[in-house]
Amino acid sequence: MEREGRLRLRRAPGALLLGLLAAALLLLARDLRGGGSRGQSSACPPGHFRLGAPQQNCSPWLACQALAREVRPLKRVGEGAVKRVFLSEWKENKVALSQLTVLELKDDFLHGLQMLKSLQSKHVVKLLGFCEEDFLILTEYHPFGSLKNLNQILNLPKYKDSNTWHHRFMLAIDYVSILCYLHNSPLGTFVMCDSSDLDKVLSQYLLTSDFHIVVNDLDALPLVNRSAGELVRCGHQELQGEFVAPEQRWPHGPEVPFEDSLMPPYDERTDIWKIPDVTNFLLGDAEGSDLVRFHLFEIHVACKKSPAERPTAEKVLDSYRKVLTSLLRGTVMPGTRDML
Ligand SMILES: Nc1ncnc2c1ncn2[C@@H]1O[C@H](COP(=O)(O)OP(=O)(O)O)[C@@H](O)[C@H]1O
Ligand SMILES: [Mg+2]
Repeated sequence: MEREGRLRLRRAPGALLLGLLAAALLLLARDLRGGGSRGQSSACPPGHFRLGAPQQNCSPWLACQALAREVRPLKRVGEGAVKRVFLSEWKENKVALSQLTVLELKDDFLHGLQMLKSLQSKHVVKLLGFCEEDFLILTEYHPFGSLKNLNQILNLPKYKDSNTWHHRFMLAIDYVSILCYLHNSPLGTFVMCDSSDLDKVLSQYLLTSDFHIVVNDLDALPLVNRSAGELVRCGHQELQGEFVAPEQRWPHGPEVPFEDSLMPPYDERTDIWKIPDVTNFLLGDAEGSDLVRFHLFEIHVACKKSPAERPTAEKVLDSYRKVLTSLLRGTVMPGTRDML
């Protein structure tokens, strides 16, 4: 058998070469389209998913019956106000099963599910199935958990080599890319509302095993429609503190009691205000991180201006990429490169 195969190969070198050339061209075309391991070229059709290697088949999202029969919860790995999350097993794969915590929050849960369904992309956690009747969502499991764990993980001896300004800056670029996607999504401009403090923001994103970021919790994601004059308010409670944007705070002073309906609405530029604080956390204290901070100073000052003067997420992303390129090329301010 094997000898026969070798003989056939020897007899048809032309066909083999042609085959290899075709495969190389296909790979090249995939890369040119922005594909690769995190790209969309190997993505499944809508309503389907693939776990693991790109050569695996796509499966349709699991429905109620399959969730009940085939998914086995193993242990609780996270909980927020809306969802309780269990590391679970499905056909020998580790998966994350999210369950609604209290029935009163079912609208948030279902909105989050709707957003997960509609916004599947490399920026959003992979949806594997759902059961609306039982309030269950099945997603890809990410063992590093939420972005809150970043410093703890990068401090493990095993991941020491990843704790560099470069890796950390790439995470900040991922984060701003996600905002850029949400602000310019195929469905319109979304605001990441569940973000009243740094820990809250970090808990909505997951750190993937190859050190990228995906957004996971889309329960509080209202739509802005500026041309129709439709702006948003994040929740019904008063927001306080320096972390939230000034326009999210009660404008009428302490003498007027807070009233939701008197709160002026705002738009996605509240997300821009928060970028410097999130990036600051992501950059951490790796060698060279301070030099990155130094180069981001100007764009970060702009993020803290009044809403109309703030840059868009695209503009911030563009600045970040330019800084990264200049740092990697060594075309940074004379003398400062030694700090890296
Ligand atoms: N796919 C997942 N893989 C690993 N951990 C997860 C996953 N999904 C959620 N978690 C953990 O569960 C926490 C709560 O999930 P989240 O969807 O934010 O719930 P809530 O809507 O209640 O805030 C996350 O911060 C994270 O720590
Ligand atoms: Mg959450």
